[in-house]
Amino acid sequence: MSPPKDIVGGISNLTRQVSNSLNLSTSPTLSFHSPPSSFRQPPSHPGFKDARSGSFHGGSARTAAKQLKPFDTKDIKVLLLENVNATGVNILTEQGYQVEALKSSLPEDQLIEKIRDVHVIGIRSKTKLTARVLKEARNLIVIGCFCIGTNQVDLSFAAQQGIAVFNSPFSNSRSVAELVVSEIIALARQLTDRSMELHNGTWNKVSKGCWEIRGKTLGIVGYGHIGSQLSVLAEAMGMEVIYYDILNLMGLGTAKQVPTLDALLDQADFVTLHVPETPETKNMISSEELEKMKKGAYLINNARGSVMDIPALIEAMRSGKIAGAALDVYPNEPAGNGDYFNSDLNTWTQDLRGLKNLILTPHIGGSTEEAQSAIGVEVSVALTKYVNEGSTLGAVNMPEVNLRSLTLDEPNCVRVVYIHKNVPGVLRQVNAVLHHHNIDKQSSDSRGEVAYLMADVSDVKEEEIKDLFQSLEELSSRIRTRMLY
Ligand SMILES: NC(=O)c1ccc[n+]([C@@H]2O[C@H](COP(=O)([O-])OP(=O)(O)OC[C@H]3O[C@@H](n4cnc5c(N)ncnc54)[C@H](O)[C@@H]3O)[C@@H](O)[C@H]2O)c1
Repeated sequence: MSPPKDIVGGISNLTRQVSNSLNLSTSPTLSFHSPPSSFRQPPSHPGFKDARSGSFHGGSARTAAKQLKPFDTKDIKVLLLENVNATGVNILTEQGYQVEALKSSLPEDQLIEKIRDVHVIGIRSKTKLTARVLKEARNLIVIGCFCIGTNQVDLSFAAQQGIAVFNSPFSNSRSVAELVVSEIIALARQLTDRSMELHNGTWNKVSKGCWEIRGKTLGIVGYGHIGSQLSVLAEAMGMEVIYYDILNLMGLGTAKQVPTLDALLDQADFVTLHVPETPETKNMISSEELEKMKKGAYLINNARGSVMDIPALIEAMRSGKIAGAALDVYPNEPAGNGDYFNSDLNTWTQDLRGLKNLILTPHIGGSTEEAQSAIGVEVSVALTKYVNEGSTLGAVNMPEVNLRSLTLDEPNCVRVVYIHKNVPGVLRQVNAVLHHHNIDKQSSDSRGEVAYLMADVSDVKEEEIKDLFQSLEELSSRIRTRMLY
């Protein structure tokens, strides 16, 4: 079997194509979407290629993924801003990409200057990728947000330019769940008040109103990635766990789903919120819901600031209805660190700061070394899968499309990635371009105005690739064409 050939010489004028010489997966079906929470070891799978070492763990050459290589791997230029975690930098570097990693974000004019040249950009929350910036990014095919949020990117403009955007929504679930565990105990023991008193020189040894958490009921609102992790931890500490979710979900351990939020509020000693920000969850816990809670119960919000009606909480804590609370998120949060947690930010801030047994943290639920490292891996693996194989699994602004990897058994197979306007008749036109060849597999999906098509086409001669590419580029529906082989 002959190894894949570098045919760059024959198609060097195809400026829009991007691929590289390395594939992450040697398994045609192995998916890297939502990797496991621990990234210290790659999944043990026959034929898995370690993204960091570049070496294969078993697997025969017959089933190994074909290494896609139209260009020298050094042609993939990556710009990483805002001190992306070393795990991410290493994975991209070991793919053979040219990686420039900067510690900070860039002023817009410098960003525009640099973005013109790169195929991949990795950012965190400070870099704003507006339409004005993206218009200049002529070679850019993909953006990696090495964080949870993607508000800093004009997602729809990026999609219209054929630029996929990836983020890392779930890499910090464990960190949040552990913070909540600490808050449950700290609230039950009034720990932060005692600590603050002693910092101020006051010895105040009390047991009144301080409790063990064993045997108490934890009510989890939103039983997703974080809520379910927390469920396991809380049960291990001897708590009874109940949860409410709009979906019908199987409980872990002995956790029980309750049919309504009211049922949860009625039974729980601790209520903790883990729902997304949606119109339905806005002010989900307000005066009416607080009234339905047990007297002396505790409330924890590590979800989103909009979910909790904070003035209502202030009232409920002043009246003694709520014995303690922990807040990590707020309707308005400062853009940077400093003395900004004041009434200019939210009108009720001073009232909040004056309350007893209230733990206030600056949105640190997911802020751990482990989470940062996991984010680095998750996003850079998604970027690599997109660059090398065209997979959009996990993309936030494009339809999710994936095909199993090409193998070395398919030496003359070309993967066509055609990002196009979502208008009638495109599939017919694309298939007319490809009609002399056998389409081994094909997948296509749309999201709003943009559609994404992947097709593996067999028996394509090297000299035919350029013609296929140019015919697709000439279609009026074209946003971007990539040929991987
Ligand atoms: N504090 C932090 O630093 C931090 C870090 C990560 C995530 N978060 C936030 O935590 C929240 C949960 O994150 P996740 O990763 O577990 O999300 P997830 O999507 O995995 O789970 C959310 C769950 O909430 C459920 N849900 C949605 N709407 C609901 C409703 N109206 N009532 C009841 N249940 C509802 C969903 O069905 C889902 O099971 C999100 O708001 C996220 O932004 C905060």
